[in-house]
Amino acid sequence: MPKSDRHTYKPVPAEVVRIIDEAPGIKTFRLRFERPGDRKRFDFLPGQFGLFSLMGIGEATFSMCSSPREEEIEISVRNVGNTTDAMFTMKKGDLIGVRGPYGKGFPLDVVKGKDVVIVAGGIGFPPLVSVLEYLLFRRKDYGKIWVIYGVKTVDDIVYRYKGPRWRKHKDVTITTTVEKKCREWNGCTGMVTDHIRKLKINPANTAGFSCGPPVMLKFVSEEFQKLGIEPENIHLSLERMMQCGIGKCGHCNIGDKYVCRDGPVFSLAELRRMQEDVW
Ligand SMILES: Cc1cc2nc3c(=O)[nH]c(=O)nc-3n(C[C@H](O)[C@H](O)[C@H](O)COP(=O)(O)OP(=O)(O)OC[C@H]3O[C@@H](n4cnc5c(N)ncnc54)[C@H](O)[C@@H]3O)c2cc1C
Ligand code: FES
Repeated sequence: MPKSDRHTYKPVPAEVVRIIDEAPGIKTFRLRFERPGDRKRFDFLPGQFGLFSLMGIGEATFSMCSSPREEEIEISVRNVGNTTDAMFTMKKGDLIGVRGPYGKGFPLDVVKGKDVVIVAGGIGFPPLVSVLEYLLFRRKDYGKIWVIYGVKTVDDIVYRYKGPRWRKHKDVTITTTVEKKCREWNGCTGMVTDHIRKLKINPANTAGFSCGPPVMLKFVSEEFQKLGIEPENIHLSLERMMQCGIGKCGHCNIGDKYVCRDGPVFSLAELRRMQEDVW
């Protein structure tokens, strides 16, 4: 293995420098690589992911939710099982193993000059937050930005503290929608698809990005197409059980593609070629 590739396969230590309680069962961890050179090597693009490990417990896949230009990296984690449960006991100063970055992120170079519609469902928001931070940093390179973020209940809303800064930018519209009306919420309600339908876009110059539960991705891609966005300009981030993260173990295949290596972001046009019956 070439010396420069070692970090790709072997976890390197990062220190937990901040923990944010986002919502019940969801925490954001801010991490600083112990050796500054390791951050340089962990040079990621929004939509790529890393494998994060706790010695003797396990390893789990997370997308980075921070801007790629920050020295420290952030991941938001929903507690669902062994590794995530152990991560929830971590304190400031604890160490976690990090390897990656892996996969193919959102094609931000390809969509330069376009308007972008970002649609996130639940814990699918983290990679798209990284996308949004990237677009805002290079604001002049992109057109209008719409973000539609859907959650089941008000309690599930994450990144509330980031909203005011995002909304300050010109031509950026953020819509948070809660599935059902309730007393504690006077904002938008309904499914993300209800809000995509209302957008007035120029389809020839718009890209649609989405990440969330598989059933949501299917309906979101249908709504994007009804707005007139071409399948080549619709980019969806898929989730699969992963183990190696580098296209070796076969855990994450769809046909002859590996989600870890060829994705997790695929255009709708690519997905149709891979699994015509679903998409
Ligand atoms: C590319 C990618 C990016 C991801 N980004 C995030 C993120 O930003 N934040 C986040 O909270 N989660 C994210 N996930 C999901 C996350 O990897 C899993 O929730 C995590 O691996 C669970 O680890 P665990 O050891 O705690 O759970 P386990 O003990 O391994 O499993 C608990 C339960 O979750 C199921 N499960 C585990 N992994 C997955 C999976 N990938 N898909 C579906 N079911 C699964 C298991 O079957 C089991 O029922 C991402 C997954 C992928 C593939
Ligand atoms: S996780 Fe091993 S091939 Fe994708």
